[in-house]
Amino acid sequence: MKRIKAIYPGSFDPPTNGHLDLIERGSKIFDELVVAILRNPEKDPLFSVPDRRKMLEAMTAGLENVSVDTFDGLTVDYALRVEASVLLRGIRAISDYEYELQMALMNRKLQPGLETIFMMPAEKYSYLSSRLVREVAQLGGSIDCLVPELVAQKLREKMDVAHKFEDGTSPGGKMVSKPKVPFERKSKSRKKKV
Ligand code: PNS
Repeated sequence: MKRIKAIYPGSFDPPTNGHLDLIERGSKIFDELVVAILRNPEKDPLFSVPDRRKMLEAMTAGLENVSVDTFDGLTVDYALRVEASVLLRGIRAISDYEYELQMALMNRKLQPGLETIFMMPAEKYSYLSSRLVREVAQLGGSIDCLVPELVAQKLREKMDVAHKFEDGTSPGGKMVSKPKVPFERKSKSRKKKV
């Protein structure tokens, strides 16, 4: 009998409970599911690719047929390399549909043998995105129930670093009244000139 191998590509910056929900659903349907993190040098991510990989590996440790990998270049080329016949993507709301449809049709044009399958995460995650998690965490809001505890912990660690004052004191230290500041992100202008 034909075994079906699927890839679930994405940025996962950071992975959320919505991603995990989709991974669990996918693992029940496909024989093998590879969560594939895009290595995108154009983006300025909050978490490094190795950090995201570690988080996803820990989150999926209990799922025997799920593995985590990284890739760059075209998703369809990666799928071909790992001999996957399905590309799994999540659709949360109608607003996702247009972008996902475009991507699915472009991927089909590039590689007709690769079938995109959309799945819906649980309703309670329909508003959840990595971008919003990053923003809420950066502005000091609660991210409980939005991400697994190990991801929340990593976000808190990032926050502590970002909130460290120039003299090295942290928000947990003596100058607690100092207002929280969002993460400092590397600006594009600081890119190495070649
Ligand atoms: O989690 P994201 O950011 O929505 O994932 C988007 C992703 C990684 C699936 C998409 O950007 C992608 O496939 N990038 C790889 C480059 C590629 O294949 N581009 C053509 C897509 S039609």
